[in-house]
Amino acid sequence: MEKVLTKNIQPDLPYVDVKAYEATGGYQGLRKALGMTPAEVVEVVKQSNLRGRGGAGFPTGMKWSFVPMGADAPRPKYLVANADEMEPGTFKDRLLMEGDPHQLVEGMAVAAYAIQADVAYIFLRGEYLFSAERLRRAIAEAYENHYLGKNILGSGYSLEMYIHLSAGRYMCGEETGLLNALEGKRANPRTKPPYPQVSGLFGKPTIVQNVETLCNVPHIVKNGADWFKSLSYTQDGGTKIYGASGKVKRPGLWELPMGTTIREILEVHAGGMQDGVRFRGLLPGGASTDFLVEEHLDVKMDFTEVAKVGSRMGTGTMIILDNQTCPVGMVRNLEHFFAQESCGWCTPCWSGLNWAEKALTALEEGQGQPADLEHLSFICNLCAPGNTFCALAPGAVEPLQSALKYFREDFDRHIAEKRCPWSSQ
Ligand SMILES: Cc1cc2nc3c(=O)[nH]c(=O)nc-3n(C[C@H](O)[C@H](O)[C@H](O)COP(=O)(O)O)c2cc1C
Ligand code: SF4
Repeated sequence: MEKVLTKNIQPDLPYVDVKAYEATGGYQGLRKALGMTPAEVVEVVKQSNLRGRGGAGFPTGMKWSFVPMGADAPRPKYLVANADEMEPGTFKDRLLMEGDPHQLVEGMAVAAYAIQADVAYIFLRGEYLFSAERLRRAIAEAYENHYLGKNILGSGYSLEMYIHLSAGRYMCGEETGLLNALEGKRANPRTKPPYPQVSGLFGKPTIVQNVETLCNVPHIVKNGADWFKSLSYTQDGGTKIYGASGKVKRPGLWELPMGTTIREILEVHAGGMQDGVRFRGLLPGGASTDFLVEEHLDVKMDFTEVAKVGSRMGTGTMIILDNQTCPVGMVRNLEHFFAQESCGWCTPCWSGLNWAEKALTALEEGQGQPADLEHLSFICNLCAPGNTFCALAPGAVEPLQSALKYFREDFDRHIAEKRCPWSSQ
């Protein structure tokens, strides 16, 4: 299986082994953390204003502080790196794992120490075979060098680390669906509370944390909270891996100060739009975020600023819409993905997203009616936050509701012209 999938492709970055990682300061954060109390490690991460990079932006140190500590705390405790990364347009965690796997291993060891976890899992997207291969190598090197296993670096703290390859559903990235999948069950979400910090994997205290979030942790411990905060242009601490895909000159990923403007990411780092193509809009952080348009280009990309203009930073990896791409077709494509990935647990999601896909397909095929647009708005309201068990459905309708707002004339043209206006282009 691995041979077939990797036959004609190569990893984007060379492997960094343990010696090369140590030569640039690797595992210094772990050494320092082991000389601190777990509570001190939690505090420095709290003070750094690190917010989760998996999409929701929850403050990381605060999340860790909810884990029961002390001699009476339930055992074992778990740390899980969420490396599922099935969000369309998002590929930042893959690059981190392929390019610098020891950074994730170290970040996990520090985070696990902070919550006194006994076991750590990397829940890895099934298709990420290069990541799996390199993480396996890095974990083996970490055990050989006493960064994992019994009595890490003579500290008395022990941690075992395992990789779990996902069987492959978008839903497995939702943290409670992930925990069910890891237990070998169907990946439906769990009702919260109880939250995983208190009752997670096998009913024990568990922290689920995104790969990029964890990769920040050793640097925060090594250099301090003030250093981390000083890297950012805004209140959210640190740097962020931003990305751009679509018809830009240089699609890719860039680590930049948190709060870099959308314009700088798009025009400087991604090189602007390809020749002969104009910018129309963008999904700022993966497929499940609301469109932003030209008037938002000077917005600073952080969790707070993007929310102020009606979208979400999400994963920070933008999908760009250009003037040669039909916005209705683009949204139809996304709703097809979300409808297919619905776990079927709640009606607004499994039924609503299918209806949305059908109505968008009818519009694309020239059979749309004015009532279809009202129906689409109704589905967006039906899938609003609070109406479903998990955030898949509210996220799924974000590109749809914002396309209806910003590209309404394109929807109207499909109905008036009884065809997709882009079909002859
Ligand atoms: C449908 C769905 C898919 C998700 N997929 C991922 C994912 O692939 N990786 C990830 O880190 N978070 C994903 N999340 C968010 C997680 O539920 C969770 O918030 C995150 O892993 C917490 O880590 P963080 O605080 O470091 O961001 C997903 C959420 C939903 C609703
Ligand atoms: S919103 Fe969708 S994916 Fe989430 S629980 Fe409901 S049916 Fe499942």
